[in-house]
Amino acid sequence: MSTYEHVRIFDTTLRDGEQAAGINLNTKEKLQIAAQLAKMKVDVIEAGFPAASPGDFDAVQLIAREIPGPIIAGLARTRREDIAAAAEAVKPAAKPRIHTFIATSPIHMEYKLKMTPEEVLEEVRQAVTYARSLVSDVEFSAEDASRSDPAFLGEVFRVAAECGATTLNIPDTVGYAIPTEFGDFLAAVIEASGRPDVIWSTHCHNDLGLAVANSLAAVRAGIRQIECTVNGIGERAGNASMEEIVMALRTRRDSFGCTTEVDTTKLCGISSMVSRMTGFPVPPNKAIVGANAFAHEAGIHQHGMLCNKATYEIMSPEDVGAGSRLVLGKHSGKHAFRQQVEKMGYSLSEEKLSEAMAIFKDLCDRKEIVTTDDLEAMIETEVLRSEEGEGRRIALKKFMVQVGQGHGTATVTIEDQGRQVTDAATGNGPVDAAYKAIRRIVGIEPILESYSIQAVTEATDAIGEARVTLLMDDMKVMGRGASTDVIEASMKAYIDGINRLFLKEAMKGVQVNGQNAG
Ligand code: KIV
Ligand code: ZN
Repeated sequence: MSTYEHVRIFDTTLRDGEQAAGINLNTKEKLQIAAQLAKMKVDVIEAGFPAASPGDFDAVQLIAREIPGPIIAGLARTRREDIAAAAEAVKPAAKPRIHTFIATSPIHMEYKLKMTPEEVLEEVRQAVTYARSLVSDVEFSAEDASRSDPAFLGEVFRVAAECGATTLNIPDTVGYAIPTEFGDFLAAVIEASGRPDVIWSTHCHNDLGLAVANSLAAVRAGIRQIECTVNGIGERAGNASMEEIVMALRTRRDSFGCTTEVDTTKLCGISSMVSRMTGFPVPPNKAIVGANAFAHEAGIHQHGMLCNKATYEIMSPEDVGAGSRLVLGKHSGKHAFRQQVEKMGYSLSEEKLSEAMAIFKDLCDRKEIVTTDDLEAMIETEVLRSEEGEGRRIALKKFMVQVGQGHGTATVTIEDQGRQVTDAATGNGPVDAAYKAIRRIVGIEPILESYSIQAVTEATDAIGEARVTLLMDDMKVMGRGASTDVIEASMKAYIDGINRLFLKEAMKGVQVNGQNAG
């Protein structure tokens, strides 16, 4: 039996992480991430904000239905309709949770909510009581707690606990806290509430780069649930990074006396999955999951490593699942392929597995060596991202380009809702020409805010992964495409982005309410 106390990991990658500007995951991608989080044994998955849009509602409900293991939480403001939507969405889960919140800082109460402290207190009473009448596991958060009055916060939390909240969360919503003060602040709030018996939680943002440090200070102050995201993605500068918290608690359990139940060998896998799906790259020097996290460049370091790894490594790469980019061959059978795909963290249906296998075989014909990086890029862009029912209105059928001294001509055939349309255009190079031809076919003119193409692996036959950011009206989307042919990858990324714009446009008409949480 472990002598270390359990710190619960509440993962909010699919809610706060997904709220980051420029991230938009589709339902299938959310399901894949949730499945992997469950395999890693996080304690809670915050799957979304069901009242925000029908898409959010559906994703939370699907995750609640399909993902066994962790508690599945849905976020809700204190409004009755938000709480009812969250309750309905998480209902299929074996362990459903409603997470309701309201702001408690003077500035939020006066300018955002336009409510007095007494009104906020009454709102907490009503919301938690109502949530608790729908599910037995209710978390209450005091938004912008770190800029709130500790005595008032104590009162708010006392009322929330009295009305049935079982987890009380003290967020540092705007990343304002400082580790040396935050622990004392939390201890004062817990004491003022008179409820040391409930589970206390924190949720730190990274505006000053202190989210992980503040979360760890919170553990020292007795907090036993940490809210965090994979790669630290989230609103503005992001949230506390899950991999850093988990590894800090594990590596320094001698100091904290606490640890988590997360399977750390899956940290690099989920980091890479989230990075690809969101289009947010992991910097090479990122702690735990960056490409250089275990790279030793200086001669003195290399010498030390050869003598004894512990000279320069406080964790081993195997502990976090780093460095095993397996190579698959043309003769790998379906069984080995399935095992590899599962090891990479994907849960594919039989049909999707066959689709992935066909893509893999095709890749083997185009490329000498197929690595897990190649496979990851293809599965995510070809198998998951382009699923039917996810607003995939148009698809690339065929194309031909001619290039000469900075000029390009492209002839493109697109299938639009079952109808094939061909058009041609000239441009400043082949990609520009192809994009013009696509715009002529679909009849919209999105602004191309960014375009990049990157080789997934080394060698000239590497898969190129293209990413675009498109803007149209008030909508911003990211599109991705992969192929051994860089022009095809670029066109697929553009088409993916346009499909996302069409989907967003269609969703606009049925938006319930678009307010995001912090
Ligand atoms: O940052 C924040 O305060 C939040 C709450 C909804 C927990 O995201
Ligand atoms: Zn937040």
